[in-house]
Amino acid sequence: MVQRIKSASILVVDDDLGVRESLKMILKDKYFVSAASSIDEAKDSLKIIEPELIFLDIKISKANGLDFLKQMHSCNSAIQVIMITAFPSSQTAITAFRSGAFDYIIKPFEPSEIHTIVERALQHRTESSEKDRLVFNLRRAVHKNIFSTMESFLLAIDAKDSYTAGHSKRVSLLFGLVAKELGMGEVQIVKLRHGAFLHDIGKIGVRDDILTKAGHLTEGEFFLVKQHTEIGYNILEPINFLKESLPIVRSHHEWYNGEGYPDGLKGAEIPHEVAIFSIIDAYDALTTDRHYRKKYSNETAFNMITERIGTQFMPALTEKVLSIIKKYCETLHPGGLN
Ligand SMILES: [Fe+2]
Repeated sequence: MVQRIKSASILVVDDDLGVRESLKMILKDKYFVSAASSIDEAKDSLKIIEPELIFLDIKISKANGLDFLKQMHSCNSAIQVIMITAFPSSQTAITAFRSGAFDYIIKPFEPSEIHTIVERALQHRTESSEKDRLVFNLRRAVHKNIFSTMESFLLAIDAKDSYTAGHSKRVSLLFGLVAKELGMGEVQIVKLRHGAFLHDIGKIGVRDDILTKAGHLTEGEFFLVKQHTEIGYNILEPINFLKESLPIVRSHHEWYNGEGYPDGLKGAEIPHEVAIFSIIDAYDALTTDRHYRKKYSNETAFNMITERIGTQFMPALTEKVLSIIKKYCETLHPGGLN
């Protein structure tokens, strides 16, 4: 006799012993079948095994199976649910489908009907998870591609002005460290670090001779440099997965007193993450050699930033961010000139 391999786990949730037993009898040769006579029992069972499929009675004693379905579906939409009812109505069917049920059966049922519906539900589950996997991989590939393109943009700017790419990597790293110490969540940090990495992407649209000018910029040249925030914003704005990055890209030169650019935001109008980033951006700029000056020491840079609290930088935040930067600065910018 050929031993058939059982292919899936099925949980039957019904307060009617007859229904539980008959579904077990119909399905036990092909599937692992367990049963629960109440919602509480079903919840306990789900803590131990995750079935591929659940038969769920619409009315279990005083409980509403549809409420349980909604609850379960919000946590795990991979489990296929087939509702059981003795009193079919179109309204019940609509509610069941809207709540995430795959199908429903009407008592009493035929064994062949049960086998067909189970096979369809399991097939649907396989196709959905395959589709989810494909979408996930595709999205990851798209993100990777977009990011490689952005990195190429930064390398292109680096070829014009050797300061930018290294600066972008350092501020992104330091922003991650500071944000973590300030208690931001991992997911948010990853998204904001993209913004930190790409904050000067708009320099791609600024003339090389201005970016590399050794002396002071004229008013007209400074006007052109200032455009990089809006150019960067316009480059990244259509990319949906980078939308959390946009405030840093657009507003990292805003000042607490409203004298920054491009929008003249003031005080609390400047998003918190942007206010944090602008301190880090300034610190890294001050402690790096530029075409028009040599780098400052860490100590001088801290003093210069502290002097600008209340004008350029947000009062309550700056001391805190500087104290975190001090923890890491020797690794990032060892030594100094003064
Ligand atoms: Fe900038």
